[in-house]
Amino acid sequence: MRKPIIAGNWKMHKSIADGVAFINEIKGQVADTDVETLVCAPYTLLASLVEVAKGTNIKIGAQNMHFEDKGAFTGEVSADMLKEIGVTHVIIGHSERRQFFAETDETVNKKTHKALAKGLTPIVCCGETLEQREADETKTVCKTQIVKAFENISAEDAPKVVIAYEPIWAIGTGKTASSQDANDVIAYIREVLVGLYSDAVSEEVRIQYGGSVKPSNVEEIMNEADIDGALVGGASLEASDFVQLVNF
Ligand code: 13P
Repeated sequence: MRKPIIAGNWKMHKSIADGVAFINEIKGQVADTDVETLVCAPYTLLASLVEVAKGTNIKIGAQNMHFEDKGAFTGEVSADMLKEIGVTHVIIGHSERRQFFAETDETVNKKTHKALAKGLTPIVCCGETLEQREADETKTVCKTQIVKAFENISAEDAPKVVIAYEPIWAIGTGKTASSQDANDVIAYIREVLVGLYSDAVSEEVRIQYGGSVKPSNVEEIMNEADIDGALVGGASLEASDFVQLVNF
């Protein structure tokens, strides 16, 4: 059985004070869940959030990291730096990083290797643009991104990776892929994993859907057989919404 994982991606939102208040508000309301509960916050909030989440079932993740251990990489943060403060997860290859910060399939692969080597759980994102969807390229695009992301990742490590399928046209637009469409693509990603590894590995890897997930549609999405979680932007910013998402 794959453990469901609901993750908030706060993107570039919230002060430390706001983030700490958020965790304090939700911690009692998500305590009884079997769902892996994760908040991915901006770097400046991470240490404070790890501190306030201690003793709860809420995990704290970063939204990016560099693939080198150290060096002259102005503005970057390493896996060790994240580990040092108690971060457990890291989003890798979010479409906004691909679009605005020159993230490539190659850097996604390097970062995935590094995260695994350091014991961080990588959440590797894939997904197509509206143009690609309209050209019927959704599956090809996702396959290319996933094959490259998993290049030289061992069958032992592969199940430690979480995949997030996030169609770009559904991010922050209020347009959600139908739960059936999302499940079709995610089932296809699972087939790709069968080809790369085996049935057993493919069955173990958790795959989230992301793109305008909100309290009103989370249950339908989570009811799909191949969807194991959600990566949520806008609706993760309000504590009451996030609580509903986790308790879908
Ligand atoms: P929204 O939930 O705001 O559409 O964002 C999705 C996303 O990009 C999560 O990583």
